[in-house]
Amino acid sequence: MPSAPVAVVTGGSSGIGLAVTDALIGHGWRVVSLSRTRGPQQATVTWVPCDLADLGSLEHGMDHVAGLADGGVDAVVHCAGLLRTAYLGSLDRRHGATMWAVHVRAAEVLVDRLGERLHDGGRVVLVGSRTMSGVAGKSQYAATKAALAALARAWAAELAPRAITVNVVAPGPTRTAMLDDPVRAGTPPVVPPLGRLVEPSEVAALVLFLLEDTGAMITGQTLVVCGGASLG
Ligand SMILES: NC(=O)c1ccc[n+]([C@@H]2O[C@H](COP(=O)([O-])OP(=O)(O)OC[C@H]3O[C@@H](n4cnc5c(N)ncnc54)[C@H](OP(=O)(O)O)[C@@H]3O)[C@@H](O)[C@H]2O)c1
Repeated sequence: MPSAPVAVVTGGSSGIGLAVTDALIGHGWRVVSLSRTRGPQQATVTWVPCDLADLGSLEHGMDHVAGLADGGVDAVVHCAGLLRTAYLGSLDRRHGATMWAVHVRAAEVLVDRLGERLHDGGRVVLVGSRTMSGVAGKSQYAATKAALAALARAWAAELAPRAITVNVVAPGPTRTAMLDDPVRAGTPPVVPPLGRLVEPSEVAALVLFLLEDTGAMITGQTLVVCGGASLG
């Protein structure tokens, strides 16, 4: 019997990452999850405690992952993230640096460290945001999410000879803890034209589509799941 495919997921303790983890487990994957807290993950998930904002913690976590995944990895899904909002005149340098570290630098370290361990035909998905083209009050956040599209296209080109695909899944307002965070009180979420928030399971379904055989010929793309929020 073939062994279960292995996915390394960041941010599996909450929201979209938790939904991705649940979807993968439900479809027979093994999941190694990196986050600061364990969260309500299924017992079958291997949790690696890690602060992605801290380079030392991240490299240490990756050493741990490398030991766990010595048979190789089939997918890397980078979901971890945070949203800090501010308008020009009050941009917070530390918030900008933290979002860059968690969204962009962590993606670099993850894929740089795991690239050689990814099996041919493997998958990389980076979770971006439909705000990546720029939204008032979210400039620092949007810039980090825009950077993911550039990383994905470059890595897609580099990894295509090994049939490894690299894509960005960019959600619109999704019903997770991030939307209720009091730090974003100045920029409340707007319900998309389709009449409700996106469910984390709907983002996870798109990630799963990309990770399974269905996604084999999609690479270097940014796929937006936003209920029409990007139409305006
Ligand atoms: N919800 C939305 O409307 C929305 C829209 C567009 C894009 N997104 C993106 O979707 C992704 C997931 O967000 P979510 O909505 O699911 O939010 P969430 O429920 O708040 O989950 C955030 C996840 O990121 C992890 N994380 C944050 N900082 C971390 C750090 N320093 N080190 C390690 N892990 C860290 C958290 O784990 P720990 O706290 O356990 O460390 C948690 O698992 C993010 O990249 C976000 O930018 C969300």
